[in-house]
Amino acid sequence: MYKSKILGAGHYVPEKIVTNEDLTAMMNTTNEWIVERTGIQERRWYTPGKDTVTSMSKAASEMAMKRAGVTPEEIDFIVFATITSDYFLPGNGVLLQRELPFREIGALDIRNACSGFIYALSVADQFIKTGMYKKILVVGAEIQSSALDKSDEGRSSSVIFADGAGAVVLGASDSEQSGILSTHLHSQGQYAEELYCIAPSSSGKVRVSQEMIDRGDFFLKMNGNAVFKHAVVRFMEVIQEALDHNGLSSEDIDLLIPHQANLRISQYVQKKMGLADEKVFNNIMTRGNTTAATIPIAMSEAWEQGKIKDGDLLCLAAFGSGFAWASAVLRW
Ligand code: UT7
Repeated sequence: MYKSKILGAGHYVPEKIVTNEDLTAMMNTTNEWIVERTGIQERRWYTPGKDTVTSMSKAASEMAMKRAGVTPEEIDFIVFATITSDYFLPGNGVLLQRELPFREIGALDIRNACSGFIYALSVADQFIKTGMYKKILVVGAEIQSSALDKSDEGRSSSVIFADGAGAVVLGASDSEQSGILSTHLHSQGQYAEELYCIAPSSSGKVRVSQEMIDRGDFFLKMNGNAVFKHAVVRFMEVIQEALDHNGLSSEDIDLLIPHQANLRISQYVQKKMGLADEKVFNNIMTRGNTTAATIPIAMSEAWEQGKIKDGDLLCLAAFGSGFAWASAVLRW
């Protein structure tokens, strides 16, 4: 059985910086509220006509492949995590496939929102373990800012979500010591409506109507309190599950990269696990919550900043819409 290993990570965030001050011009909010409740100071939003989920993922993938020393021709498969694809169909994986000189490789989309990147990593890991593929591009990319209700009604979610893309190249590892040690995936669909977006919906009379637009069906809707309460419990559980599975304890972790949902969630998990500040990577302060893109963006930035070194034990964990949650433990 082969093991899979991250060979390189890359990211792209849009140029446009949206500060908390900028948001106060759109809705009834304050810099103090946002910083205190979420930790976010600024985030990136796309520029229509310039940034697309495809263009951002292309830039992130190019960076990841360059750092991995791998060319597009060598990639055997694409796994693309997004809930905000450029088209209703086809998925974003194929839209990325035509952007670079890839071969006619398979491209798969994963729609698990905040935990989407870990789900994607897990799927890619299985293909490598079985020997079916040698090099897989795993992407998380989102444009959330076009589906946010920027009125007072939507303010609790529109202040946190943001846009960006991250990617990693996963390759078959020849070392027994490094690579993905485990992934754990969970869901509990009874809570689907705590964080969801109804439209476009295939089961109504039409997929798009003026009535749906007027009702705000295209906006992301979140019961922030409920999501928060479940998140803190599930984060702890799924991290512990991963540690137990590998016979490890929290002291063994060199870097925890939590999904960047809310700085308070990350801090809660850090405190409960007794981890020092340098053992938890957060970039939500300047990047916001980019759903499936938070973990690969964070991984790429942590690596750039020298916070990930060869041999380090990394733990990834995410929770979000579904509810769906997941963890991964890997040795870099
Ligand atoms: O990534 C996917 C998963 N998502 C998450 O994990 C998000 C989890 N949830 C959260 O991060 C937090 O619940 C939020 C940041 C979304 C909201 O923070 P909260 O501390 O749970 O606030 P709340 O919704 O309980 O609202 C508290 C108060 C309310 O006012 P009253 O009723 O106490 O008078 C809200 O109306 O804050 C008000 N409020 C705001 N005030 C200023 C809500 N949003 C805002 C805002 N600016 N943007």
